[in-house]
This record gives sequence, C-alpha cells and structure tokens, in this order.
Amino acid sequence: MAVIAKYCPNIEIKVVDINQERIDAWNNSNLNKLPIFEPGLSEIINNVREKNLEFTTNLVDSIKEADMVFISVNTPIKQNGIGAGQTSDLRWVEACARQISEIAIGHTIVVEKSTLPVRTAKTIKEILFATNDNNQQNKSFSVLSNPEFLAEGTAINDLENPDRVLIGGEDKEAMLSLKQVYLNWVKEDKIIFTNLWSSELSKLCANAFLAQRISSINSISALCEVTGANIGEVANAVGQDSRIGNKFLKTGPGFGGSCFKKDILNLVYLSRFYGLDEVADYWEKIIEINSWQKMRIYEQIVKNLFGNLVDKKIGILGFAFKANTNDTRESPAIDICKNLINEGAFLSIHDYKVSKENISTILSKENNKNWEYVFDVYEVFNSSDAVVILTEWEGYKNLNWNEIALKTKRPFWIFDTRAILRPEELKKINLNLWQIGNGYQIN
Ligand code: UGA
Repeated sequence: MAVIAKYCPNIEIKVVDINQERIDAWNNSNLNKLPIFEPGLSEIINNVREKNLEFTTNLVDSIKEADMVFISVNTPIKQNGIGAGQTSDLRWVEACARQISEIAIGHTIVVEKSTLPVRTAKTIKEILFATNDNNQQNKSFSVLSNPEFLAEGTAINDLENPDRVLIGGEDKEAMLSLKQVYLNWVKEDKIIFTNLWSSELSKLCANAFLAQRISSINSISALCEVTGANIGEVANAVGQDSRIGNKFLKTGPGFGGSCFKKDILNLVYLSRFYGLDEVADYWEKIIEINSWQKMRIYEQIVKNLFGNLVDKKIGILGFAFKANTNDTRESPAIDICKNLINEGAFLSIHDYKVSKENISTILSKENNKNWEYVFDVYEVFNSSDAVVILTEWEGYKNLNWNEIALKTKRPFWIFDTRAILRPEELKKINLNLWQIGNGYQIN
C-alpha cells in the first residue's frame, strides 16, 4: 500500500487493523520503530504518511468510503480439525468478508491479496452475497484475486519493478479498475488477466517451483560434500543454461519464511482432496528434503564436536530466515537451535535485526537459560567451541578471522551453512571449517 500510495498520489489509501498497538506502531514518528524492517520502506512511509496513506483502526468508515478493499490478513496453517497442519486457517479472511459485506455501501471491489488456498474466492463471494440483499441495501460486489509476488528484503524493488502483476476475476470492469492502479508505474504488458482460479493456483505454483529449486540444490549440496564437488561451481555451471537460469540456486540450511512451506502444504492438500495422490506425494517431497537439510546440518555439528555438546558454547550467526529482514517465521535457525540446545549446548546468538524478545518467544521459557543474546557479533566467539552461520548477512561475510582466532577455544569449528566464507583464508589460521555443499577436503 505504501508503494501504491507513492505512485498514485490521487488515490487515498487507508490501512486498517483492529489492533490499536500495531496501528500506533505504524504511525510512530520514529521511523526506526516501524513494526517491519524492510529496506526502503520507512523512506516511502515518511513521504506518504501525511499525504495519501493513513494507518487507522476506523474499520467502519474506511470500508464505507472504499471503492476497493484489499484483504491482506494472515492465513497461517490450520492448527486443529480437518486439514490441520496442511491447509490454511481462513478465519480472518472469513471475518473480513463478513465485515465488508455488512458495512460496504454501493459497488465495492474486493481484492484477495493474502495467499489463499485455491477456490477461496468462492467462499468470499458466498459470504459477500449471502449476508445482504443487493437490491434492497444498494450494495454490490466484485471479487478479484491479485496475489503478491514480492520477497522480503527486496520488497520495494520487487513492487516497483515487478516481473508481472496478476489479476484474476470474472468482472472485466473491476479487473480494468485494478489494472488502472498498477498502470501508474507498471508497463501494460506486465499486467496479466486470468480467471480467478488460475490466479489463485499460479501463486501457490510459483512458490512451489521456487521452493523446489531450493530443495533440488540442497539435495545436490549433500552429494557435493561426499564426492568432492563444490555446490557453487555446480550451481554456476547448471544455471548458465538459459533454459534453467541462474537465480534461486543458492544452497543453504533450507528455505524458511511464512510462505513456501504453507503454500506447498496447500498444494498437497488440494491435490489429495481431488484424489491426485501422486501429485501430492511429489510436492510433499520438497518439504521433506527441506526438513532433512536442517537435520543433517545439526547432525554434522554434533558429529564434528565429538558427538557431545554438553558444556560447549556455540555461537549462532543469524536468526532471520534470510538476510535483510527481521522476520523469523519458519526460519531454519529455529529447528537447528532447538536441537543444539536439546543436545546440551549453550548458544550465544547474534542477528543484526531480530530482537532478543522475538527469539525468546520462539525458543520458549524452558530453554531460556541455555542461550544468550549479544549485540556485538564478535562476542559470540568468546570462549566458544564452534560457530554456526545461519543467515547470509553481509556483515558475516567479512569478519576478521585473525582477531576471532585469538578468542576461541581449540579445536574450533566453523559451520558455514550459507557457503559465504572463503575456505583458503581460514586454512591459513588453522580454524576448522565445514561448509555446506563443499567437498573440498575430499581428494
Ligand atoms: C517468497 C517468494 O520468493 C516471493 O515471490 C513470494 O511473494 C513470497 O514468498 C510470498 O509468497 O509472500 P520470501 O519468502 O519473502 O519470498 O523470500 P525468498 O527470497 O523467496 O526466500 C525464501 C527462503 O528460501 C529463505 O529462507 C531463503 O534463504 C531461501 N533461499 C532462497 C535459498 O535457500 N536459496 C535461494 O537460492 C533462494
């Protein structure tokens, strides 16, 4: 919405949430205190907040006045009942649809922005049309699907220069209205029209394909380690094939973030629902490889530290699921750190943007004696037995290893799960390195 506000000065935008604290945070005059860290976002907010972008809890007036309402609520994996652990919990989407249905006046275009299971638009339509009588109450609705393809950390650039904008729907006029909004900064040939179901499915499918590439490269990383190959070299050679392309081929500790796992689970659930078990099994494997990658990293750490982590201190570099974000949802750091703590290790955790409070809720109370949070990255090395690099923050690529070598215990192990270090440099100062996908020690 901030980016739409930036490029469409004539459109008045209200971001509504029922959580007062959240809205207050978005209205904070100190831009460093906005709830989400995203490069470039605070600058845009600073420019549009007093003009055409308002953060408010005034749900009723905002819906009444709106020509278009975007539903952008959370759709986490369902915890209980039918489809638990597999499909999305749609309670907030449903609540939004009910509120819009009750409050809206005149014609309102309702846009699905949250990533949703395929055919959710049907649910939204049913709720919108069931709870009112169009003619009597002088209200009508069009439902569109307009999935979001931005990635965290690069969100502003992704929004300003999208590969495509997808608009799914049945009402051509409504689709053209939404297209007009994007035409303020997106070229016409990048705006695609589809039917509602293609739009919903394309979003899940795009994320599944991206996650599939990561699981593919991660599975090969293990093979590199045992054969003497190097995953960076393999990815480069494979990615040079223009049919394959060189993006999204970086090996790591497994994909995290709020979307990939959830969207694949939705795809799996949908396939099973329609009796397509082979399709479901195929996509499920992507998640299995992802869990296995995290597990085998943890096993490597234990194995190299002589099978015992009791009374050992391990530094953790990075807790976010990727660099340039403070988001920790589904971060591979979560499972890896919990397993290390369970094995008896004491963790010294650093991240440039994730707060201590956030980590504290994730690692839970019973574990709180088994880890510390440090602000200075070099502190994680004090009397440590090992360090594990879990997020590819720029700062971790250029650490002063000569200085670090003076602080650590010996033997000292570095586990580089993002393949960001240069093994030659570390060899000179006699620090042990295990690097993901790098079989350099094999002759
Ligand atoms: C992802 C998609 O990239 C977006 O297109 C989509 O809009 C978004 O989900 C969503 O559905 O909301 P995001 O999860 O923010 O975006 O971040 P990604 O850059 O896709 O990274 C996801 C995970 O994959 C991270 O843990 C990252 O470290 C990992 N990754 C990514 C790799 O391990 N290797 C790679 O080459 C790329």
